Amino acid sequence: MIRAVGLTKRYGDRLAVDHADFTVESGTVTGFLGPNGAGKSTTMRMILGLDHPTAGTVTVSGRPYRQLPAPLREVGALLDAKAVHGGRSAYNHLACLATSNRIPLKRVDEVISLVGLDRVAKKRSKSFSLGMGQRLGIAAALLGDPGTLLFDEPVNGLDPEGILWVRNLMKSLAAQGRTVFVSSHLMSEMALTADRVIVIGRGEIKADTTMREFIAQNASTHVRVRSPHLGKLHELMTGTGWQVEAAPDDEDALRVYDVTSDAVGELAGQNGLWLHELAVVQPSLEEAFMSMTADSVEYHAGLGGMEPGASGGSGTDPGAATNTAVAQPGRPNGEAR
Ligand SMILES: Nc1ncnc2c1ncn2[C@@H]1O[C@H](COP(=O)(O)OP(=O)(O)O)[C@@H](O)[C@H]1O
Ligand SMILES: [Mg+2]
Repeated sequence: MIRAVGLTKRYGDRLAVDHADFTVESGTVTGFLGPNGAGKSTTMRMILGLDHPTAGTVTVSGRPYRQLPAPLREVGALLDAKAVHGGRSAYNHLACLATSNRIPLKRVDEVISLVGLDRVAKKRSKSFSLGMGQRLGIAAALLGDPGTLLFDEPVNGLDPEGILWVRNLMKSLAAQGRTVFVSSHLMSEMALTADRVIVIGRGEIKADTTMREFIAQNASTHVRVRSPHLGKLHELMTGTGWQVEAAPDDEDALRVYDVTSDAVGELAGQNGLWLHELAVVQPSLEEAFMSMTADSVEYHAGLGGMEPGASGGSGTDPGAATNTAVAQPGRPNGEAR
């Protein structure tokens, strides 16, 4: 477990992290979300004792990092995949780390296999691709078999296969009961990886909750209807008092709020209107995030890679953008839209 209380870091007149209070629980993947410059890396460096807080405290398993008797066995971290001596082989890099931390060399072979670097283990790491470098960094993080793992933007620059591998690895580490804390500015990826989210913006913690709750509190489920009788249907539904709007992505579809798909289907049936599509659509993490920050112009201006459709972001997995799923209660926070 990681616990931050009033954690603050100031660089000159810039508050990089501003009185952050949060807890990262074991047994789940916790996504640390925020745009570039929000304070994610600074927070992670403070957790690892690499940066001194200006105020406040942060502990891992109840102690500040520097007071942990065997840090590598408690906490593994991947902050910067390039922080490796390029002239050393992957094996030598890990063997040095193992020896200086009294970890048996057998464990080096284990982690090399675990991250899939067996074939290149004896090659100098400076010839490694970004993806191979990330795998080596993850191997180093896992070396001491730690209960807590920190990954700072681990999928940046990875190909789809690498992204899937990292995602599954994080989930399996959490399933083993470990604390997994992973930062990202990529919403669609985090929606697939994390069970809990801590959202940071301009150094402030904006949310600390489950992924499900965060989405439910900040965006609304809607019913999507596609029909050749759209005009008539629109008229009937608004006449019934339902809130209807055109689907932004499809001129043949409508979005209806605060009703069940059953009610929409029955209204159409009673009036002899064909439906070509009827679905309950859950909002995406990205929509929830945008909605949460919509009223904060200052924050909005600093969204960086988080705008919908921003390069490298939501394009990775179209399925993550919108999840069609079982019905959920309507708009718990109507004013959020
Ligand atoms: N060593 C540093 N010196 C001065 N300012 C820094 C330093 N590290 C980070 N910052 C500033 O602190 C803020 C948060 O940065 P960072 O933690 O790297 O954000 P993130 O990882 O979310 O992109 C940014 O405004 C950044 O410019
Ligand atoms: Mg960062």
